[in-house]
Amino acid sequence: MFGLGTLARVVGEVRRDVAAARDRDPAARGVGPGEILAAWPGVHALLSHRVAHALHEVGVPMVPRSIAYFSRALTGIEIHPAARIGDGFFVDHGMGVVIGETAEIGRNVTLYQGVTLGGTGFATGKRHPTVEDNVTIGSGAKLLGPITVGHGAKIGANSVVIHDVPPNSTVVGNPGHPVRVEGRRPEGPDADWVHLPDPIADAITGLASRIGALERALAEIAEPGHDRDESPAEVRPIRRAEGPSPAGG
Ligand SMILES: CC(C)(COP(=O)(O)OP(=O)(O)OC[C@H]1O[C@@H](n2cnc3c(N)ncnc32)[C@H](O)[C@@H]1OP(=O)(O)O)[C@@H](O)C(=O)NCCC(=O)NCCS
Repeated sequence: MFGLGTLARVVGEVRRDVAAARDRDPAARGVGPGEILAAWPGVHALLSHRVAHALHEVGVPMVPRSIAYFSRALTGIEIHPAARIGDGFFVDHGMGVVIGETAEIGRNVTLYQGVTLGGTGFATGKRHPTVEDNVTIGSGAKLLGPITVGHGAKIGANSVVIHDVPPNSTVVGNPGHPVRVEGRRPEGPDADWVHLPDPIADAITGLASRIGALERALAEIAEPGHDRDESPAEVRPIRRAEGPSPAGG
C-alpha cells in the first residue's frame, strides 16, 4: 500500500510545505527546515491534514476526525478532513482558521490567522468556497458559501466575501468588493464604494433646513417686519480632533 513512490511523493509534499513557509513568512527567512517543521503551526496543521485527508479518502472511520481535532487543539487551525488542499499551502500564525468540509484550495495559497472558509447556513452539498491558485487571504477575512476566488486574487484583512472574486483582483471591505482588477481600479456607476450616498446625513440636512424655515416663520409671527438672520440652521461637518488623544494610551 505504501511503496517507495508514495514515500517520495510525501517527502516532496513536505519539502514544498516547508518551502512555502520559508518563502511567504518573513519571520522564517534564514530558519532551517527542521526548525520550521518543529515550530510552525501552519505547517503542523497542513501535515496533519494530509494524513487525515488520506485516511478519510480511503474510508477510515473516526481517525481522520480525531487527527483534525488534535491538530485544531494544538494549532488553532480547524480543517475538515474532507477539504481538498493543493501544494504549497501556508497558514501564517494560525489560530481561528476554519476550513470547511467542501472547501477546495488550489496551489500556493496563503491564509493568515482568523480566516474562515465557511458555509452561509445549514445548506448541504457544496457549500464552502473554492480558492484557486496563488490566492492570499488576509487575517480575519470570512469567505462564505460556494463561491470561487479566482487565481491570483488578494482578499483584504477583515473582508466578508459572499460573491465570486475575479482572478487577479483585490477585494476588501464588508461586503467584500473589488478595488483592483488586473491592477486597475474598476470603473462604472457601482465602483465608487468610498463615496456612497449617506441617507442619515441627507435626512439631517433636510431637517436642519426645515427647522430654519420654521424659525423664520415663527419670528415673522412674533415680530412682523423685524430684521432677522435668514441663514438656515447650520450643519457643521465633523472635523478631526487636534492634540493628544483624550483616550490616552
Ligand atoms: C488587501 C491587501 C492584500 C491589499 O494589498 P495591495 O495589493 O498592496 O493593495 P493596496 O494596499 O494598494 O490597497 C488597495 C486599496 O484597498 C484598500 N485596502 C487595502 N487593504 C484593505 C483592508 N484590509 N480593508 C479595507 N480596505 C483595504 C486600500 O486602502 C486601497 O484603497 P484605494 O483604492 O482607495 O487606494 C492588503 O491590504 C491586506 O489586507 N493584506 C492582508 C495582510 C494580513 O492579513 N496581514 C496579517 C499579518 S499578521
